[in-house]
Amino acid sequence: MEESVNFVNGYGKVNPSDDETTSVTGQAPPSNRRKAIAVIVTVGFFFVIVAAIIGATVVHHPRNKPSESQSSSVKTNNSIKAVCAVTPHPESCFTDISSIDSDNAVDPEIIFNLTLRLAVNELANISSLPKILISRSNDLRTGSALRDCATLFDDALSQLRQSVEAMRVGSGGGEKVVLTEGKLADLKTWISAAMTDQETCVDGLEEMGSTAVDEVKRRVQRSKEYMSNSLAILANIETLLDKFGLHLH
Ligand SMILES: *[C@@H]1O[C@H](CO)[C@@H](O)[C@H](O)[C@H]1NC(C)=O
Ligand SMILES: *[C@@H]1O[C@H](CO)[C@@H](O)[C@H](O)[C@H]1NC(C)=O
Ligand SMILES: *[C@@H]1O[C@H](CO)[C@@H](O)[C@H](O)[C@H]1NC(C)=O
Repeated sequence: MEESVNFVNGYGKVNPSDDETTSVTGQAPPSNRRKAIAVIVTVGFFFVIVAAIIGATVVHHPRNKPSESQSSSVKTNNSIKAVCAVTPHPESCFTDISSIDSDNAVDPEIIFNLTLRLAVNELANISSLPKILISRSNDLRTGSALRDCATLFDDALSQLRQSVEAMRVGSGGGEKVVLTEGKLADLKTWISAAMTDQETCVDGLEEMGSTAVDEVKRRVQRSKEYMSNSLAILANIETLLDKFGLHLH
């Protein structure tokens, strides 16, 4: 306060030249004191604005949007890579998960859940394949093997749907980790059973010398891959959770 008063007085002393210029334009010369105060108020206001801008820049710089999303993308990419590394198909595992939901893929449990979702979607997509092939085939022996396949495909799909149910977070659940020892064992059993169903179908067609075998093999390839990735993640889940500072319940 004292300083600003001194400043006003000091300013007043150098002001007469200013006064003269104003007089030339013919306007009523304001008192030096009022002019000085007006200048100080203006300068002070200017400093407040500059300080606010600098403050805002300094505070906001470290967490501006691009760098935040960049680093979270690095983080989820690394999480997906770490989990996919234990699977038989690490590259396609990474690409497939990134393509459906890379933003949320932050821990092994969620990443497992995503491979499971890929598997169940793919299996649902091919579930009508045996029936379509039956309608096209007039070979009785192939027809009988394909009817077995239809049953096996339905069973595989219901095994995976059961697994999806087990992974659903309870409506009241604030629990972060949904996997328990018991669920882990069930999931391994169900997903293995679904894989076995598909293999049994292909084996049956091969035994019958069915011409449909190549098409079925080709069409089950992706779901087979998703299921084997899912099983590999489950087989390594404790080591993986450990890496992320999590553990099984
Ligand atoms: C993360 O992976 C996705 C999908 O491959 C890619 O588009 C993105 O550039 C990656 N982000 C970083 C930061 O590497
Ligand atoms: C389902 O399978 C068909 C091939 O019959 C394919 O063209 C389509 O992209 C698949 N859809 C999904 C969602 O995978
Ligand atoms: C797994 O995915 C399903 C949707 O497919 C979702 O309802 C469930 O909450 C997810 N569970 C976890 C643990 O991420």
